[in-house]
Amino acid sequence: MKELISIIDVPKHVGETVKIGAWVANKSGKGKIAFLQLRDGTAFFQAVAFKPNFIEKFGEEEGLEKFDIIKHLTQETSVIVTGTVKEDERSKFGYELDLTDIEVVGESNEYPITPKEHGTDFLMDNRHLWLRSSKQQAIMQVRNALTYATYEFFQQNGFIKFDSPILSGNAAENTTDLFETDYFGNPAYLSQSGQLYLEAGAMAFGRVFDFGPVFRAEKSKTRRHLTEFWMMDAEYTFFTHDESLDLQEAYIKHLIKYVLDNASYALETLERDTSLLEKYVNEPFKRVSYDDAIDLLQEHESDDDTDYEHLEHGDDFGSPHETWISNYYGVPTFIMNYPSSFKAFYMKPVPGNPERVLCADLLAPEGYGEIVGGSERETDYDVLTQKIIDFGLDPKDYDWYLDLRKYGSVPHAGFGLGLERMVTFVAGTAHIREAIPFPRMLHRIKP
Ligand code: 4AD
Ligand code: MG
Repeated sequence: MKELISIIDVPKHVGETVKIGAWVANKSGKGKIAFLQLRDGTAFFQAVAFKPNFIEKFGEEEGLEKFDIIKHLTQETSVIVTGTVKEDERSKFGYELDLTDIEVVGESNEYPITPKEHGTDFLMDNRHLWLRSSKQQAIMQVRNALTYATYEFFQQNGFIKFDSPILSGNAAENTTDLFETDYFGNPAYLSQSGQLYLEAGAMAFGRVFDFGPVFRAEKSKTRRHLTEFWMMDAEYTFFTHDESLDLQEAYIKHLIKYVLDNASYALETLERDTSLLEKYVNEPFKRVSYDDAIDLLQEHESDDDTDYEHLEHGDDFGSPHETWISNYYGVPTFIMNYPSSFKAFYMKPVPGNPERVLCADLLAPEGYGEIVGGSERETDYDVLTQKIIDFGLDPKDYDWYLDLRKYGSVPHAGFGLGLERMVTFVAGTAHIREAIPFPRMLHRIKP
């Protein structure tokens, strides 16, 4: 229907008569006047119907009939509205439609998600409908912008898209949260990360990235974990660890800036503090080693305004520690060189300190936690084989991966970004379940 315009394009049509295909999100008014809150997926705005105008245009009988239809429209009825676009400073959108005609396309009776408050379980059961609400729409627009900006950044920086498989014969990260399935009589696993395949891609093409769903049988119920989520993995050769962090920082800044520039309406709907996002684009990220971070936590643990548990060198951070550290610096913070014991087998040790590995997690401020995990990879065939054995894995399963160290092994590094963690952070939403259209979590696979 080419003659229809989108609500987001309404500002280009001030003073014109336009037609819009939309749904009725809400309705109010009394007597001679009716207000319709319309949504079409691009934005929400208001249409105003004035009874005398309808009578003037269509005559007494038809005019009253049309106005009556408008007054009795129910939530989520789909309509094609015709009207004149007016600027209106009072409305959040800045524009309004002076309604001159309406056609009902599809009726909607007893729509379950009313404008009143609903509990989370109810909303999750109705996720297929909940997606229509303004907040969910804004979050999906942030997600879409982040996806677009990811492709843009990597294409601009000499990377090629290299698709890693979802079904795999070996574990990429660990064996504790693998989803296993039967593959014609043999076990196969759903990918936890495309990284190992991307390393093969990097040896073939220099710089590669993938972007797709990954799976982890996370048994924990937290506001940061999904069992199916989207990961962007990037892998690149001849990069030092510092250069790798520079690339990650540039990527994250590119993402935030793209959303600020291209999804400002969504950020406004979400009431996101954009001055903070601007700060993350303009100020350098902080880089601190794991051991320095532990010292810092110990130094501040008896401060009045801290409440996290005491940690020793060698302990892993909990989310209160991560939140405190990133808020302390006020910008996204790389925690570098973690103990090798709680990281994956493929990471290269810090020179002169085999207990620590050349890796970094990027912690988002404001309590959003880890958004990126990356490292420099082990390049030596024998060292890597031994690491695989030490981690309780079978080198036979990794023969192809070890081959990459046999034929022209070079320094290389890479990282993975969790898209939903990034969406949660940029959109400023409390829970990761709202960052993906149909979240998969412990005990939740429907709808
Ligand atoms: O830190 P992770 O486990 O790193 C890897 O998988 C590497 N192989 C990536 C690489 O180097 N190519 O996961 C990367 C990111 C995390 O920083 C986090 O943002 C996200 O993926 N993530 C999750 N997001 C949602 N739900 C979960 N259960 C997640 N687990 C990790
Ligand atoms: Mg990680």
